[in-house]
Amino acid sequence: MEDIVSLCKRRGFVFQSSEIYGGFASCYDYGPLGVELKRNIKNAWWRSMVQERDDIVGIETSILMHPKVWEASGHVATFNDPLVDCKTCKGRFRADHLEHIPCPMKPSKMAGQAEPCDLTEARAFNLMFKTTVGPVEKEDESNIAYLRPETAQGMFVNFANVLTTARKKLPFGIAQMGTSFRNEITPGNFIFRTREFEQMELEFFCYPDTAAEWHEKWIDIRYQWYLDLGVRRENLSIRKHEWDELSHYARDPRGTGTVDLEYKFPFLDKPGELEGVANRVDHDLTQHAKHSGQKLTFFDPQTNEHVVPFVIEPAAGVGRNMLVFMIDAYHEEEVKPGDTRVVLKFHPQIAPIKVAVLPLLKKRDDIVNVCQQLTKDLKKKTAAVYDDTAAIGKLYRRQDEVGTPYCITVDVETVEKDNAVTVRDRDTMQQERVALDQVQNYVLDKLGV
Ligand code: GAP
Repeated sequence: MEDIVSLCKRRGFVFQSSEIYGGFASCYDYGPLGVELKRNIKNAWWRSMVQERDDIVGIETSILMHPKVWEASGHVATFNDPLVDCKTCKGRFRADHLEHIPCPMKPSKMAGQAEPCDLTEARAFNLMFKTTVGPVEKEDESNIAYLRPETAQGMFVNFANVLTTARKKLPFGIAQMGTSFRNEITPGNFIFRTREFEQMELEFFCYPDTAAEWHEKWIDIRYQWYLDLGVRRENLSIRKHEWDELSHYARDPRGTGTVDLEYKFPFLDKPGELEGVANRVDHDLTQHAKHSGQKLTFFDPQTNEHVVPFVIEPAAGVGRNMLVFMIDAYHEEEVKPGDTRVVLKFHPQIAPIKVAVLPLLKKRDDIVNVCQQLTKDLKKKTAAVYDDTAAIGKLYRRQDEVGTPYCITVDVETVEKDNAVTVRDRDTMQQERVALDQVQNYVLDKLGV
């Protein structure tokens, strides 16, 4: 994990937020390569969840919503974590996350071991960030608003709008990607748990008697999505929530609870949540109908009845996805004795750079000209870069380290003899000679994106 964190910084994937001021705890900035990777992940999600399907439409809703939304959804009353304090070291912890907390103020007589913290009783701590709307904080708190802790409520409150404007019938879904905020008690593990993060969520509305079946289907679809994008099967697992760990909206005997797609994160002692697939039953639509006084049902013309749909919700974090794609792609390989390369074996669809064009000799104008023309042509079709800032061996390693699937090298023979270039495959390191006028199609075809 340390190697990945250091690679993220060194190569411009992720920076600590406000670093020049010493950083701001558990907030991160995405650098030039990170932002490409993140965008590719989001595009892959949007493509498969919205654009390739005709039963799902997209939406983008505002982060600040009417405070009643969060009363209706149950977040004001129940979106809590159990908080404990240590009476000795004054540390603050999430009671359900740590079993033995060694107290830094209570070193034990036994070398290297600290005695446990002296913890208070757990008390509920609401995870929503509050802000005030307008310039003055009112004493009665009537201008309090919350930064959304999930994007999901944007879909529920727009259920009727989408139903009528997109003329959808059950089953159908509404998808959204956007930033959410949670005042986590113990954020950490790099971008795994942060206080500000992006989510990719689908609310899939279906007839109540089909919800169990749709739940299974969505678990399969989402699991397959990770496999299709190259995540290794042996690192993924599926776990059903125990009753007492279910979120308030999924704790309903009529439903099928929540199932997590988990990943073997190297910093956790057991697989951790990558994405949750919840059966929220009719919790949210019923609550919003009650609190808003609006009708939030689907009129079934076949039975002439109003139905309150059940909802299946696959919900993933973008940053957590990115972390998984980085961890899973990270390899250190011994190329020859004593020579190790770091390579990110990204699926081409998510690789930040798809192809790099490299001159064997940067002092030869004719070689550089061919490179630059080729890069310019490739840039119209895909994420291509030109790099001449080191010797070829080093340039290859640099591209391996950021996961570029193909490098194209232009050499003396290209310009003097065969009008062909060398294409190098990141994973096999095999090189092939390809005619210059064919190489674009050749590489784009291999990338398959
Ligand atoms: N609408 C349902 C919902 O928000 P969740 O399991 O609380 O469900 C969904 O969150 C996903 O969002 C998680 O699986 C995780 O990938 C991501 N996520 C949640 N809290 C996060 C945090 N503090 N930092 C980073 N990602 C987070």
